[in-house]
Amino acid sequence: MQTQTLGQFIIEKQKDFPYSKGELSRLLRDIGIAAKIVHREVNKAGLVEILGETGDINVQGEAVKKLDVFANNQFIAALKAGGECCAIASEENEDIIPIDTVSSKGARYVVAFDPLDGSSNIDVNVSVGTIFSIYRRLSLSGPGTLEDFLQPGTELVAAGYVIYGSSTMLMYTTGKGVNGFTLDPSIGEFCLSHPNIKTPSDGAIYSLNEGNHLHFPEGVKKYIKYCQEEDKATNRPYSSRYIGSGVADFHRNLLKGGIFIYPTTTKSPKGKLRLLYECNPLAFIIEQAGGKATDGRKRILDIPITELHQRTPLFIGSPEMVEKVMEFMVKYPV
Ligand code: AHG
Ligand code: MN
Ligand code: MN
Repeated sequence: MQTQTLGQFIIEKQKDFPYSKGELSRLLRDIGIAAKIVHREVNKAGLVEILGETGDINVQGEAVKKLDVFANNQFIAALKAGGECCAIASEENEDIIPIDTVSSKGARYVVAFDPLDGSSNIDVNVSVGTIFSIYRRLSLSGPGTLEDFLQPGTELVAAGYVIYGSSTMLMYTTGKGVNGFTLDPSIGEFCLSHPNIKTPSDGAIYSLNEGNHLHFPEGVKKYIKYCQEEDKATNRPYSSRYIGSGVADFHRNLLKGGIFIYPTTTKSPKGKLRLLYECNPLAFIIEQAGGKATDGRKRILDIPITELHQRTPLFIGSPEMVEKVMEFMVKYPV
């Protein structure tokens, strides 16, 4: 079979949008470039001085790792240089980064991202990732504004993630299905390996941090019990799989079928994961793959967004599993 690179695929897909001027294509290409540079560093992380913490605490109150900063800088640099993006929002930056370069005059998009997802796994050679959201700007000209980012997930133009795993993959959607590309390091190109991904409608994997069990809502506790019960007809008990890198847990469940849950806990009463650059992009992808994403009650993509770093509980994965846990959430509302 002829290999199709990400660049070739993007150009071919552009024909589906006859009035497109290629800006979104170039933006996706810029993200691909930054991903390759991060891949290069992640791959030699044990050899160079890039493991460990910087000593800083980020806006989320979490210890910043050197690779968080490296990945953040690479994505910011690639998006600034590309000229298609008028503002950036990142997990690692409290405020948006307006872009006001000569090349970004007329830029129509804003990009929000989690540069390195799964930070706690960086130092131990476990998969980490990058997650990104792309919106069309609302402001008319000049550098982008905060309002450009405060759009619900239903307005997403494109979203995706990169997983730096046993191989590095880039998965994205522009609302016409999900396609996955695997980096072939020998030619330095992402090559189409997973065209038009559909997630299984049901699965047998549940993923959540059971260490927080005592602090989960009753509906989640009851659902976990349900997952652990014996029932041949529904393939139970399910397997429990939790890496602690959201991207990696999501990726496995997307391909194999399963559910990932990060509910509210007493410690994180609004949930832990961020709507703009973690939950919305993954929700857009799972819906495009035939799955579901909710906060336990409502669709993630419909949630109004009022703050850059807003958090939400997340229930995401195979549609039948998400519907099942939502039944428990309705039955046990506390
Ligand atoms: P980040 O590394 O970007 O801060 O995200 C960590 C997230 C996500 O990757 C993962 O699903 C979750 O936090 C793990 O949280 P716990 O350690 O609380 O289980
Ligand atoms: Mn994250
Ligand atoms: Mn992160």
